[in-house]
Amino acid sequence: MNDRGMKMEQSIPGSCDARLCRERPLWRSVGRESTSTRDARNATEGVPYRPVWGTAYLLSLACILAAGCTGQDSQPQFRLNMQDILDPQIIPSQSVDAFRVTGAEKDDDEVEEKQTNAQKLQFISTALYAAFGTPNEPNVFPEFRWNAEEKTGLDLKKITLAAGPYGGNADGTQRGLFRQHCAHCHGITGDGAGPTAAFLEPYPRDYRQGVFKFKSTLNAAKPTSADLKRTIIEGIPGTAMPSFALLPNDEVEALVEYVKYLSVRGQSEMLLAIMLLGGDDLPEGETPEAKAQASAEYIKEQVASVIAGWDTAKDSIVNPPERPETSTPEELAASIERGRTLFLSKEAQCIQCHGPTALGDGKDGGPIKDYDNWNKMKLPGDMDRWLLPKQVLRPRNLRLGVYRGGRRPMDIYRRVHSGIGGTPMPAGGEGATPVLKAEDIWHVVDFVLSLPYEEASEPARFEVHETQVAGRVN
Ligand code: HEC
Ligand code: HEC
Repeated sequence: MNDRGMKMEQSIPGSCDARLCRERPLWRSVGRESTSTRDARNATEGVPYRPVWGTAYLLSLACILAAGCTGQDSQPQFRLNMQDILDPQIIPSQSVDAFRVTGAEKDDDEVEEKQTNAQKLQFISTALYAAFGTPNEPNVFPEFRWNAEEKTGLDLKKITLAAGPYGGNADGTQRGLFRQHCAHCHGITGDGAGPTAAFLEPYPRDYRQGVFKFKSTLNAAKPTSADLKRTIIEGIPGTAMPSFALLPNDEVEALVEYVKYLSVRGQSEMLLAIMLLGGDDLPEGETPEAKAQASAEYIKEQVASVIAGWDTAKDSIVNPPERPETSTPEELAASIERGRTLFLSKEAQCIQCHGPTALGDGKDGGPIKDYDNWNKMKLPGDMDRWLLPKQVLRPRNLRLGVYRGGRRPMDIYRRVHSGIGGTPMPAGGEGATPVLKAEDIWHVVDFVLSLPYEEASEPARFEVHETQVAGRVN
C-alpha cells in the first residue's frame, strides 16, 4: 500500500522555509504529547490493517483522477483533517481506536469494522491526493475546471500561480504566493493553524469548513470571488488579517482562487468522511479498473456538490432596496431614533448579545461568552486532538466604530440582514418572516453607525493638573 497522505509529518524539500512548510504533526497538541496523541499517531502512521486493496487499484484510481501517474512521494503533502474526522458525530467511538486493531476487540465483527474504517481512511487520503494533488502540484478534475462561459469551476492556472514554494518558475513567472503571504497564519492546508495562529485572536480562518464570515451573500451561502477579493485587498480591520492592497490584481485573483481550492478540498474531505465513516460502503468493482472507475464516480459526486455551492454563490447576493432618505439632520436623527427603538426591542434580539449599552456586554451586563463554529466543536476533555486552544468569541463592542466586514452602510446592512456566518450573530432579515424588514434594517444601520459618535462612546476624561505633568517631565 502506498502510504502517501497517511504520513502525518513531512518535510518539504527545496527552497522552502522549514518552519513554514513543515506541516505540523497531525496529532500535535499544544504542549507535551500525551499518551493518547502518541497512540493516535502510531495508529494512523502504521495502521495495522489487512491491505485488501492492491496497489494496482490505487494506482488506477490515481491515474483516472489525477493528471499524471508518476510517484510523488518526495513531495510535501496536505495534512489530513483528522481532528474533524474524529468528531463523535462521524464516528461514534470518537477515538483513533475506531481505526486500530488493539487486540482488545470483543469479536471478529469489531475487528472487521475497524479494518473497514482504516480502509475508508486510506480511501479518503488517496481520493484527496488524486482529486486535488499536492501543495506543490495542485490538481482540479477537468470537469470542475474554470468554464469562462458559465463562470463556474476552479481556475487551475490561477491556483498554480499561488501554489508551491515561494519563488520564480524557470520561465520567469511567480509562484508560491500563498506560502509567501498567507500560510504562516492560515496553514499550508488552509486549516487556520499556521505557526503564527496560536498568538492571534480571533484565529485565522480555517477554510476547510467552507464557512466564511464577511460576504455579500445570504448567511449559509458561500462568498463570491468578489467578496474574497475584497477581504484580501482590504484585510479585516480589528484583526490580524492584513491588507494586501499593494499586490498586483492577477496575484490577488490567484490567491482568491487558491482560497477557494483549499476550501473545496477541505470540505470535500469532510464530506467524504461523513459519507463513508457515516455508513456508505466503499465503491466496488469486478476488476481493479472497474473498482477505480466506481471510486472515481463516487469521489466526483461529493466534490461536485461542494463546488456547486461556490458556483451558485452569486445567486444569493443580498442587494438591499434604496436606503431611506436621510439627507437632512432631522431625517437622519429620526432614522437613528427608529433604529435605536428596534435595536432595544425584544424581537430584534440585538441587546441579548450586544447589551442595551451596545458595548457587547450582553443582557445582564456581564461579559457574554460564546464561540464561533470552529471553536464550538472543541469539547472539554477532548482538547488533545486540536491544534489551537479553544477561543471565546464575544459580541462586538459597537461603540468602537471598528467593523470587520467593512464600514460602508451597505456592509453593515448585509451583516444585520444575513448575520455573520459561522458565528452566533443571527440573520435578522432572512427567511419567510424576517425579524427585520428591509427599511427597518436601514434604520438599525443608521443607529449602529451613529453609536461611536455618541458622548457615551468617548473615552473617559481625567483632569490633569499642571503640577502633575510638570513633575513627570522633570
Ligand atoms: C497575520 C495573520 C494573517 C495573514 C498573514 C493572513 N491572514 Fe487571512 N485572516 C487572518 C485572521 C485572523 C482572519 C480571521 C478574522 C475574523 O475571523 O474576523 C483571517 C480571515 C481570512 C479570510 C476569511 C474572511 C471571511 O469572510 O471569513 C480569508 C479569505 C483570508 N483571511 C485570506 C487570506 C489570504 C488569501 C492571505 C494571504 C494573501 C491571508 N488571509 C493572510 C489572519 C491572517
Ligand atoms: C446571539 C448573539 C448576537 C445577536 C442576537 C446579535 N449579534 Fe451582532 N454580533 C455578535 C457577535 C458574536 C459578533 C462578532 C462576530 C465576529 O466578528 O466573529 C457580532 C458582530 C456584530 C457587528 C459587527 C460587524 C462587523 O462587520 O464587524 C454588528 C454591526 C452587529 N453585530 C450588529 C448587531 C445587530 C444590529 C443586532 C440585532 C439586529 C445583532 N448584532 C444581534 C452576536 C450577536
